[in-house]
Amino acid sequence: MEKKRLFSGLTSTGRLTLGNYIGSLSKLLKLQEDKNNEVIIFIANLHALTIPITKAELLRNVKENLKLYIAIGIDPKKTKIYLQSQIEKVNELFYILSTMTTIGQLERMTQYKDKATKQANSTFKIPTGILFYPILMAADIILFNPDYVIVGNDQKQHLEFTRDLILKLNNNYDTDIKLVEAKIADLKEGAKIMALKNPKQKMSKSDQNKDNTIYLLDDLLEVKRKILGALTDSENKIYYDLEKKAGVSNLLVIYSTIKNISLKKAEQEFKNLTDYRKFKEIVADQVCNLLAKIQKNYHNLNDDKLIEILNYNLKYLKKEANKNLDKIKDKIGLIL
Ligand code: TRP
Repeated sequence: MEKKRLFSGLTSTGRLTLGNYIGSLSKLLKLQEDKNNEVIIFIANLHALTIPITKAELLRNVKENLKLYIAIGIDPKKTKIYLQSQIEKVNELFYILSTMTTIGQLERMTQYKDKATKQANSTFKIPTGILFYPILMAADIILFNPDYVIVGNDQKQHLEFTRDLILKLNNNYDTDIKLVEAKIADLKEGAKIMALKNPKQKMSKSDQNKDNTIYLLDDLLEVKRKILGALTDSENKIYYDLEKKAGVSNLLVIYSTIKNISLKKAEQEFKNLTDYRKFKEIVADQVCNLLAKIQKNYHNLNDDKLIEILNYNLKYLKKEANKNLDKIKDKIGLIL
């Protein structure tokens, strides 16, 4: 049977959180174990240029993220991993796709509108890179002609945009690019990881209140302190109810996903416990065990190892990208 190609891009901005781990990264770990999958992921360092960033910050983010992906268990022998700027052909496809897109289409993108309104009352002017963000994303994808793209809910619109471009290419130029489908990485039934002090809101890496967010590289004593300080309720019963018990439910989701058991099973474990402090300590232990492992792996990786990892599949990936781009260029009439 032919393998299904799964593709995903990870933005290289900011530090990764427990929410990122549970919500999406841990999914990649499962997917790479399936022999029927070919998993390709990349770090979107070109997309990272759409907000002002220094060379030092950019390099630090990319290295930190790459190290974390490896530290959590992404295995370069099972998952092909590259840096967006390593595959230069993406820029050529980006240009071609830009000729098939209208400015109006781009201006209607939710992410663009959000970013544009946020910038509107500051002196910062919106770079065209932000407007063109979805075209580069489409180019990332179309260059590798995958069966599935793994994205969070917030990227669904960009994926629809990509699918429209694929249909246009196939119709106008008679290419045979696969109509890629989304695999949404977010957890089901509202089981997103929420902010510890404000469990009605998503855990975010850019939260002003640092007690809301657990970063994968946080000091473990800090992690414990944050979990013990999580907002709960006064019922002193531990069960899952997103509406009435958002804080307790959040801790249950964290506990059950790290332990790889169902929510039901987790509820059963705590059926007779009425002490929230004890409950939080047990959850904190579970989280700290996970983070201790990740952090140990993380600190064992050096820059040389990272370069080795980035070169591991580069030849193959470049060949795939060249082949797909040449097919498109040929159909369009760019190759004599
Ligand atoms: N925009 C994606 C995000 O913020 C990252 C990304 C860039 C991506 N190019 C992609 C994801 C291609 C999937 C496929 O998460």
